[in-house]
Amino acid sequence: MLYANPRAVRAPYPAELRAIMSIERAQESRRWLAAWPGLTPGATPLHELPALARRLGVARMCVKDESLRSRLGSFKALGASVALVRQVVRLHPGLEPGLVLSGRYAQLLQHYTVVSATDGNHGRSLAAAARDAGCRCAIVLHAQVSLEREKAIADFGAKIIRVPGNYDASVREAERLAQAHGWQVISDTSYEGYEDIPRDVMQGYGTIAAEIAEQTGARADEAGAFTHVFLQAGVGGMAAGLASYLWELHGAQRPCFIVVEPAQADCLLQSAMKGHAAKATGTVDSVMAGLACGDTSPLAWRFLAPSVDHFMTIEDDQAVAAMRTLARGGPDIPIVAGESGTAGLAALEVLRGDCALSARAGLHPDASVLFINTEGATAPQVYEELVGETAESVQRRQLAWFAP
Ligand SMILES: Cc1ncc(COP(=O)(O)O)c(C=O)c1O
Repeated sequence: MLYANPRAVRAPYPAELRAIMSIERAQESRRWLAAWPGLTPGATPLHELPALARRLGVARMCVKDESLRSRLGSFKALGASVALVRQVVRLHPGLEPGLVLSGRYAQLLQHYTVVSATDGNHGRSLAAAARDAGCRCAIVLHAQVSLEREKAIADFGAKIIRVPGNYDASVREAERLAQAHGWQVISDTSYEGYEDIPRDVMQGYGTIAAEIAEQTGARADEAGAFTHVFLQAGVGGMAAGLASYLWELHGAQRPCFIVVEPAQADCLLQSAMKGHAAKATGTVDSVMAGLACGDTSPLAWRFLAPSVDHFMTIEDDQAVAAMRTLARGGPDIPIVAGESGTAGLAALEVLRGDCALSARAGLHPDASVLFINTEGATAPQVYEELVGETAESVQRRQLAWFAP
């Protein structure tokens, strides 16, 4: 399903949005996280995929590989961490933000507890940041989060709380626990009366866009290297964080943004069709665990409504096929891409397989396409089952690909 957003505009980035999320604040988040050992130093790779581009009939295709962002295996390390830093500094204005995750203030924070719901990656990042800052962390998991993902979070010392139902039920339980115990919710999704922290999380993701701009030599108010940028979405935070940065940078020359979701968790597509932040219509159960969200983040929606040109849904088997494509490599570099990481490539395959859809999305042979591999094998057993090869084996082939 491809839906052209009637609200998308091509104009300079509006001042009212810049007051909420801006390049300036994204760069500040980036500086504050620079010394955190939880992140891999430097930018994540931007790989060219020339053979895939040839097969799919576009001029250029690149993938920004966020699987290497940190040992946590996903881009989410950029969000929860900086939101925790900003929240601690809001409570204790005299502290040096860049030192919060070094544990310098651990004694001060030892009785402070943060809590969040998660599909896996956000909770893992919050647990890692809380441990490094020296505060306590509780993570609420819904019924469909695998034991493998639970263990990865518990390994960082977080208290795990299980609830029946889906992601949205776990969001409500995290809020209830916070009220009951005086804990602080650090959520990646916004709701009524709760916007500052999700904004900080989204702003943290701006680092990805900042690196893309640097890696491609982008210049303000000019068109960038890519005509089309595919952004996968759960609640919409990552898409909003990247789209806002690139919109502010390129202004009216911004790329075409295409947001991709699982068909069963189509809350952003529904939002586009209804004209307001809406709920998904499907079962909200997908192999793309990170994208299996039933409720749009209303704050993210304010950024996506005027900036996303197309909303699109894909099927689970299309995401899995794209995992195998990236793992296989060939002439192109083999890449470990997890279930939610390949949604952009899966969407491009669907569009290029249908001339009419391709034309509607403006995907002509001169198109230059970017997608974001938002996670690696964050659930290694699931990865092996779906790809038929371990992540380590794919990584070895990647290393061999680099060898002369
Ligand atoms: C790997 C991965 N990709 C993409 C997303 C989507 O991010 P958001 O919920 O901010 O839209 C998530 C969310 O958890 C994720 O884990």
